[in-house]
Amino acid sequence: VVDIRKFYADTGMFTYDPGFTSTASCESALTYIDGDEGVLLHRGYPIGQLAEQSSFMEVAYLLLNGELPNQGELDGFTSTITRHTMLHEQLATFYRGFRRDAHPMAVMCGVVGALSAFYHDSTDITDPQQRMIASHRLIAKMPTIAAMAYKYSVGQPFLYPDNKLSYTGNFLRMTFGVPAEEYEVNPIVERAMDRIFILHADHEQNASTSTVRLAGSSGANPFACIAAGIACLWGPAHGGANEAALNMLREIGTPDRIPEYIARAKDKNDPFRLMGFGHRVYKNYDPRATVMQKTVREVFDSLKVSDPVFETALRLEEIALNDPYFVEKKLFPNVDFYSGIILSAIGFPTTMFTALFALARTVGWIAQWNEMITDPAQKIGRPRQLYTGPTQRDYVPVGER
Ligand code: ACO
Repeated sequence: VVDIRKFYADTGMFTYDPGFTSTASCESALTYIDGDEGVLLHRGYPIGQLAEQSSFMEVAYLLLNGELPNQGELDGFTSTITRHTMLHEQLATFYRGFRRDAHPMAVMCGVVGALSAFYHDSTDITDPQQRMIASHRLIAKMPTIAAMAYKYSVGQPFLYPDNKLSYTGNFLRMTFGVPAEEYEVNPIVERAMDRIFILHADHEQNASTSTVRLAGSSGANPFACIAAGIACLWGPAHGGANEAALNMLREIGTPDRIPEYIARAKDKNDPFRLMGFGHRVYKNYDPRATVMQKTVREVFDSLKVSDPVFETALRLEEIALNDPYFVEKKLFPNVDFYSGIILSAIGFPTTMFTALFALARTVGWIAQWNEMITDPAQKIGRPRQLYTGPTQRDYVPVGER
């Protein structure tokens, strides 16, 4: 057995792998993906079973602790998370510094980074107790932070958490409730939302998770690391794809316009891509998209609503999956293709979609961060480069250039 790192160091060699398409950055026991078969397992459990049968709190416990909780453990964990849902009161002032039309993701990057200025008793990464409290705080406060970003954008007062409600019910109330009025959580919406959170909880070494790990590898505190993850998630090639996918479907409008967009997606001179299609790892149907498509039907049936955009999405999928371009390149719908349709039916504006993704992914990010911190093989992340600039040359004073 050759220690490849030592071999490379001794010989001065390294690999050139832009986009890390074939380089493992770490060992991890959290999430397994078989992209060819369309399989996603969290700690060994298939995502379909978790989405259908468990709750987001159970999945959060599973990702953090390695095993599904028994009833007592689940109750204890839920109560711990519940105790941490409040934000420091001065953070409300921080929100008021943003422009009213600020994108929620811009607000989330700032507010989550700012948590490190408020919770000094959970920033010592060498203390396991502090790491645990920081993890619980992040999971607990993300719904409050996201809901406040929404309230701020629509000019409504912030609502304090109501900890009698479930994690997801509480988030829905803080988002859509108004003061002095009773907010009744719709159990179908609550279940659908909880399922969406489960489907987004973790996805091994994606761009934002790798960002969290890279930031954390320098010893940065967990709040700063998660803020870095949020910033990376924002991009349209990653978490921003759910917003972009629904915008695209609305722009297409009716199924008769699909061929025009398919043609654009195939045109090498056009930068347009079908949003919500394709994945770095899945070269088969994204198992999360299967659950998501089913959930759209359930939500529409239960709420007795519909949206023509769903028909457009189904037809687009059918046409693309029978088109040689998409077949050859193994481009299938990913998790983001259908999620926006449900979120929109629930009442979220598209600008909130990626913030919801960030809320759910915080569980995976912080579980991965903890795994990294306790991994004895972990070093500061420090990729190398292939230098392509000029060779050494002498400085020329400005007047002689
Ligand atoms: N529409 C049209 N063509 C596509 C698409 C698409 N959505 N995705 C990939 N392709 C084509 C590329 O043009 C490329 O063609 P080429 O080989 O002829 O140059 C080929 O398929 C491979 O694409 P890459 O960009 O090299 O694949 P990569 O693994 O780097 O990118 C990505 C994956 C970013 C997800 C890409 O498929 C994409 O941009 N999809 C749309 C955005 C999206 O839905 N992102 C969400 C991802 S899931 C998530 O973050 C939760």
